[in-house]
Amino acid sequence: MKKNPFALFTLIFCGLVFLMVGVLIAASIPESIVISNKGYDQDRRGPVNFTHRKHSEEYKVACTECHHEYQEDKNVWKDTDPVRKCVECHDPVGKKGNVDRLQNAFHNNCHGCHKEMKGKEAPYRKCTDCHEKKS
Ligand code: HEC
Ligand code: HEC
Ligand code: HEC
Ligand code: HEC
Repeated sequence: MKKNPFALFTLIFCGLVFLMVGVLIAASIPESIVISNKGYDQDRRGPVNFTHRKHSEEYKVACTECHHEYQEDKNVWKDTDPVRKCVECHDPVGKKGNVDRLQNAFHNNCHGCHKEMKGKEAPYRKCTDCHEKKS
C-alpha cells in the first residue's frame, strides 16, 4: 500500500504544535507568586509566597483545581484563557451571594487539597508554613 506523505507531515506538524502550546503554557506561568492582597478589613498575617510552577509541574496539580470561571455551576475556564485575580470575584471584606470572601476562598482552596494528602509534607494548619512573619 502506498503511504500518504502528506498525512505523515500533518501528523508531525500537529504533534509539534501540540508540544509548543504545552511548552508555551508552562513557560507563561510564573515560577512563584507573592500573594498579598489589599482591602481586608484587617491585615493580620504576612504575605504568602506560593510556589506556582512547582504546584503545576512537580505536584501535577491541574490548573482548573485553582482557576475557574463558573457558568451555571460548571467551570468553563480553560488553561489558555486569561487569568483573573481571585480578588476580582472574591471580596476581601465579606461573602457576596454564593461567592465566598477572599480569605476563605484561599484557605479552602489551599487547605482543602493539603488536608486530603495524608502523610505528605504539604502545610495544612501551621500558619507560618505559608504566611511570612509580619515585619
Ligand atoms: C496553605 C497555606 C496557608 C496556611 C497554612 C494558612 N494560610 Fe492564611 N492565607 C493563605 C493565603 C494564600 C491567603 C491570602 C493572602 C492575601 O490575600 O494577601 C491567606 C489569608 C489569610 C488572612 C487574611 C489576610 C490577612 O493577612 O489578614 C488571615 C487573617 C489568615 N490567612 C490567617 C491564617 C491563620 C491564623 C493561619 C493558621 C491557623 C493560616 N492563615 C494558615 C494561605 C494560608
Ligand atoms: C495550586 C493552585 C494553582 C494551580 C495548580 C495553578 N495556578 Fe495559576 N495561580 C494561582 C494563584 C493563587 C494565582 C494568583 C492569583 C491572585 O493573585 O489572585 C495564580 C496566578 C496565575 C496567573 C497570573 C500570574 C500573574 O502574575 O499575573 C496565570 C497566568 C496563571 N496563574 C496560570 C496558570 C496555568 C496556565 C496553570 C496550569 C498550567 C496554573 N495557573 C495552575 C494558583 C494556581
Ligand atoms: C471570575 C470570578 C472568579 C474568580 C476569578 C475566582 N473565583 Fe473562586 N469562585 C467564584 C464563584 C462564582 C464561586 C462559587 C461557585 C458556586 O458555588 O456556585 C467560586 C467558588 C470558589 C471556591 C469554592 C467555595 C469555597 O469558598 O470553598 C473556592 C475554594 C474558590 N472559589 C477559590 C478561588 C481562588 C483561590 C481563586 C484564584 C486563584 C478564585 N477562586 C478565583 C468566582 C471566581
Ligand atoms: C489540588 C492540590 C493543591 C492545592 C489546591 C494547593 N496545593 Fe500546596 N501543595 C500540594 C502538594 C501536592 C504539595 C507537595 C506535598 C509534598 O510533596 O509533601 C504542596 C506543597 C505546598 C507547600 C510546601 C512546599 C512548597 O512548594 O512550598 C506550600 C507552602 C503550599 N503547598 C502552599 C499552597 C498555597 C498557598 C496554596 C493555595 C494558593 C496551595 N498550596 C494549594 C497540593 C496543593
